[in-house]
This record gives sequence, C-alpha cells and structure tokens, in this order.
Amino acid sequence: MTAVDTPTTAPTTAELQEDSARHNWRHFAEMSPEDGRPVRVITRGEGCYLYDTDGNRYFDALANLFCVNIGYSYGAEFAEAASKQYLELGYHANWASTHPRAIELAARVAEIAPEGLHHAFFTPSGGEGVETCWKIARQYYKLKGENRWKAITRDHAYHGVSMGALSLMGTPTSREPFEPLVPGAVKVRNTKRYGRPEGETEEEFTAFLLDDLEQRILQEGPSTVAMVLIEPVQNSGGMLVPPAGYADGVRALCDKYDILLVADETITGYGRLGTWFGSQRIGLKPDILTSAKGLSSAHAVIGAVIANDKVYEPFARAGVTFKHGNTFGAHPVMCAVALKNLEIMERLDINGHVMAKEDELRTKLESLYELPIVGDVRGMGFFYSIELKNTLPDGTPLTQEQKDRLWGRKQVDDGLAAEGVLLRVTPGESAVLGISPPLVADTPEFDHLVGALRTVLGKANEAYVAL
Ligand SMILES: Cc1ncc(COP(=O)(O)O)c(C=O)c1O
Repeated sequence: MTAVDTPTTAPTTAELQEDSARHNWRHFAEMSPEDGRPVRVITRGEGCYLYDTDGNRYFDALANLFCVNIGYSYGAEFAEAASKQYLELGYHANWASTHPRAIELAARVAEIAPEGLHHAFFTPSGGEGVETCWKIARQYYKLKGENRWKAITRDHAYHGVSMGALSLMGTPTSREPFEPLVPGAVKVRNTKRYGRPEGETEEEFTAFLLDDLEQRILQEGPSTVAMVLIEPVQNSGGMLVPPAGYADGVRALCDKYDILLVADETITGYGRLGTWFGSQRIGLKPDILTSAKGLSSAHAVIGAVIANDKVYEPFARAGVTFKHGNTFGAHPVMCAVALKNLEIMERLDINGHVMAKEDELRTKLESLYELPIVGDVRGMGFFYSIELKNTLPDGTPLTQEQKDRLWGRKQVDDGLAAEGVLLRVTPGESAVLGISPPLVADTPEFDHLVGALRTVLGKANEAYVAL
C-alpha cells in the first residue's frame, strides 16, 4: 500500500467502522462481525485512484462497479454543472411536461447510439432499465394485438435485483433466496468458450449457441417470446466475448420469430469496449438498448433505455401511453451531470484511448499465462477477466478446501489491496477476476495492476504447483 498525506479527519477509522457495523447495511456484503475484516472506508478519489481513511492509495481496477468511466478527477466540473442546474431547476418530473436537460440528453444519447436507436427513456438505475425493456417489450406486443410475455437471457448473466430483473438473472444462487420469481424468464447458454471441447472451431461454437437459442425459442413457443436480452460482452461469468457470427445469428433468429432483440449495455455502454456502445463494437443490432453506469461515469443516478422507430411507433400513436415511469427517471440534475460526463468523454477522446491501449492492456495481462494457475485471459476494450484453473495439471478437480486456500477472497482481494489494487475475485466453480479499470487508465496503471496480480497470483500459483 502507498501511504500519502491525506488529512486525517475526525472521526477515526475505528469509529467509522463501528458506526458502519451498527447502522450501515451494505449491499451484497457479509455483515457478520465474525467475518473479521473491518470495512475499508474510502474518502477520496483522484484519477484512477481511491484513498481510504488511513491514507492508503488503491488503483481502482474495477472502476468501482464497472462505472467510473472517466475516473475521479472531474468533480469540479460535475459540481459546477449540478450547481447550475440546482439554481435553475432542482427537480421536475419527465411526465406530462418535461425540461431542457432531459431533451438535450435524449438528443445527445440518440446521436451516439447505434444506428436507428432514437428514443431515450431515462431510468434511475441499470436494473430499472432492464425492467423497462421487459415492460416495453410486453406492451409493444399487446399494442400489436399479441400476447407475448417471455424473455430469454443467458446463463450466469447479471441483470439487476428487482424482481423482474432478478428473474432474468442467470445465476441460480442469486435467485434462490427470493423464489418464486416472475414467470416467463427463460435461460439459454452463454458464450463462454473456455472449457469447450478441444478442437471445436469458432464456427461450430457459434452454430451450437444459435441452435441452443433456436431450440429454446421453439420449445417455449415463438409467439410467447417478447424479447431476447443479452450483453454485447457478458460480464458475469467473466467477460464472455461472443464468437464470430453470433451477433448476426441472434439478430437473424429474432427477425425469424419476430422477437425484440435487447442489448443490456449497463456496463458496456459509454466507452468500455472502445466505442460509445458495445453493440457497435461487436456488430449487434438491437431494437432496444439499456444503459446506465457510464452514462454519468456514476457521478449521477441515471440510466437510459433507447429504442428504435419500430418499437417506439405503436407507443407514439394517438391515445397510447407507455404504462411505466418513476419519479427520478430524468432528474434534471442527473441529466446535467450526464451531459457533462459525455462532454468530458468526448473531449478526452475516451473511445480513441481505449482502442489505442486495449492491446497493451491485454498483452500485459496475457503475460500472466507464465503462471500455470492462470487458465484463461479474455475480453476486449478495457474489460478483461482472468480465470484461474479449477483442476490439477492431470485434470483432477480441485477440492473446495484447495480452492478456498488458493483463491479465497482473503488471499486474492486482501492480497491485492495490500499491493494497492482494488479488485474482486468471484469464487465459484472456478475463480474469475474481473478487470475493468477507469477508461483513463494508462501504462503506469497497467504496470501497477499486472505487478500486483503477478505477486498475488504468484503466491496462489506456488501453492497450486505444490499440490
Ligand atoms: C449487465 C447489467 N445489467 C443490469 C445491472 C443492474 O444495474 P444496477 O445495479 O444499476 O441496478 C448491472 C449491474 O451491475 C449489470 O451489470
């Protein structure tokens, strides 16, 4: 860890930790004191770095939750944009009437969106965006005189936690505590290539995935399926890049069965893959796209669902209302901050930077293949994952005890934090490390990250080769 001169502020770290344990119920977090790890309290951000109450500095290798796309250095510009908006109009609902920032942001988003997507509906989160897509799809078919309600998503995909979005989520362990969920959420295979039979060509893999999707559509009955919802590159499961031909193949199946194709770009939107939207990078042609995090680089609570003319047309007819909305969807201050973020991203040529630097990041991460424990490095843009092996070199599966010892959170997350890097391992069948830095990261940050990974994974590797 690198200590810097952070002014110490009262209360102390220990006091904050105590108060946090007493009152602050954190998300997706083990709250038991027996967990034995006092919570880290982050007070400040700058560039790609976060600082805690003890003055330790960390490279934010996950852009917090895949969202702080321009990093932490533009607070003054965001504050000015927010302040100006607060002084002008602190709130107005985007319902029967509207306000200039919603109009400007909708127009800007339409400008950068994949071809044909013109109509932006603002939401207060990524999960709300996914809910919105499913509801647009259902009402769209009702307006066309059909009753289609099902949604197809992929194994292991994460789409949010409200009951609808959760039903679409592809990880059974996340769904189980809350079942029964919303009916009609159907899962198909994802595009994970690692672990597929040796010798299978990319073409064969694509055909296998498309056949799985088509069989599922036929099993469910095409006239019941409203949408297929996929991320351009799926985060959960470890940056699953689709094989060649997959994006076109999914589009063709959606056309064949008149199903709406929806891109969940909650993560891949706004530069993560080196283009404004991931769909543009991989050639996916969605009817609807949902986005959130990077729209404001997470400096405001806002997302955007963007639909094409085909989807929008029945909603624009006389007497028709999309029966959906909420209080905070296009909050003027959030819109002002998002507009500022897009302006900064353009000024910094974030997409150009990601494109120029992605090979360097990938090559440096791939150097970790020298550690036999590293099984797969995959991804694109500033969006990679490292999957560790879950078998011994002779193919014997690792036991749970061995896995815990090699790549438990304590070893990996805490080990990396001690090296000044914040990153989370997702332990499961295999351990996956997601790498998704702020899009302003550059060579010094890549070197810091890869050095830390080499140290921590090196230790895991020593234990692995000794098994
Ligand atoms: C692909 C995807 N969809 C939806 C969501 C839900 O977003 P939120 O947490 O803003 O509700 C996430 C969150 O990480 C996500 O990664």
